[in-house]
Amino acid sequence: MHSKDWQSQPPEKWPEPELKGHSIPGDRYSSKEFFEKEWEEMWTKVWLLLGRADEIPEPGDYQMEEVGPESIIMVRQQDGGIKAFFNVCQHRAARLVFNEVDSVEAFICPYHGWRFELDGELTYARDAEDFPEGDPCGKMNLVEIPCDTFAGFIWVNMDPDCVSLQEYLGPVWDDWSKYEIDSWKRYLAMTANVPCNWKIVLDNFNESYHLPTVHPEADAVVEESYKDTQFDMSAEGHNRMWQQAFKPSKRRLKNGKDLMDPALAMRMEGWGLNPDDFAGREFESREAVQEQMRKLGPDMGYTHFDNLKDHQLTDVYHYTIFPNFAVSVWADSFHFLRARPHPTDPTKCVFDNWYYAPAPEGLETDVLTINGPVARDAEIEHDVFEYGEKSLSPLIDQDMGVTLGQQLGLRSRAFKGVYLSHQEWRIRRYHEVIDEYIDGIRPGPNQNSK
Ligand code: FES
Repeated sequence: MHSKDWQSQPPEKWPEPELKGHSIPGDRYSSKEFFEKEWEEMWTKVWLLLGRADEIPEPGDYQMEEVGPESIIMVRQQDGGIKAFFNVCQHRAARLVFNEVDSVEAFICPYHGWRFELDGELTYARDAEDFPEGDPCGKMNLVEIPCDTFAGFIWVNMDPDCVSLQEYLGPVWDDWSKYEIDSWKRYLAMTANVPCNWKIVLDNFNESYHLPTVHPEADAVVEESYKDTQFDMSAEGHNRMWQQAFKPSKRRLKNGKDLMDPALAMRMEGWGLNPDDFAGREFESREAVQEQMRKLGPDMGYTHFDNLKDHQLTDVYHYTIFPNFAVSVWADSFHFLRARPHPTDPTKCVFDNWYYAPAPEGLETDVLTINGPVARDAEIEHDVFEYGEKSLSPLIDQDMGVTLGQQLGLRSRAFKGVYLSHQEWRIRRYHEVIDEYIDGIRPGPNQNSK
């Protein structure tokens, strides 16, 4: 049990790396040459959040995910562990599986029937005696890659010489450990093929300067001013932003807007408060909700609230995990945003808009996702589509609407490179880390060349 003193402490700052001031020209977002350098020198050397452990509970259950030109299988082993393999037969390169999630006794190649056990060993090849280079069994096994689990997710790294996942994540590891995210359930799973470079998506999630123009309604429940926001960059290449929430932004005063917006009132009512009681003292809503969450949370099954400081109960921590994962972490939800590169085209990516939340036993209230309420015991289907065929959610549609236009503008001969405010420096840091990978340098507290 943490003391009241500990719970009331403010967030700590991460020690910050020095920025080098690299330029960020437009061709980084469309050049095939740069795209290939990124793939060879960066994507194949980083830890990637790729799967979810609870989707493959039993031995033989596997999950298959694509990243750029590669396809990775993550499979539950007989001993309960998880191994990851490239989804490629070692005979003549056929893909072994095409289903996103399934269960097998062993992987049987659809082309000539080679059989790979769950641990990747080749145990059957027809006419094995006919191979002049020797029986392939036990020799031509699946190619395994480093794999670990954290926060309930399966992470993989295509580099056999990579650092541990914990070392890679740096301070993010401790931060997320407090939330018990491993037991949270998925309540939204939308994936869209989007016509923009993956970095445009991540750049957008690396700054909050766009909130007043792109998400004008957000000021109802989040303090948007950069002066009241804490920005952090880690030596490992990840970024964090802390914004106060469950209160109106001070900008609303300046803009003559009502301080008690229905969106804030609904959130207060959700924690048993009457918004009318806060007439004239709307800015006190955040602390009042914190008190209610401390009081009501444990009985509702939110066992992790005791691990969180007061500000973490109401406020949002927005992380970007290098290179392609962004998430808004709230006390009771995890808004999962990921951009995976297209296999060949730098001007396209695959965007995942998912949402996780705790599912305490006995709690019958709906989960309020960004797409509206979802029953806590709902089974969620993965919805995959082309961008524009349907909404990704009002909030994400707002983001994507501007990023697609940006992809077009970045190609213009009139564009000379980005001109960043200080509050957008997490973008600069991200691009510098990409450049470091391309130059053979690994970010981290003990940065050294490979
Ligand atoms: Fe897989 Fe031939 S390509 S068995």
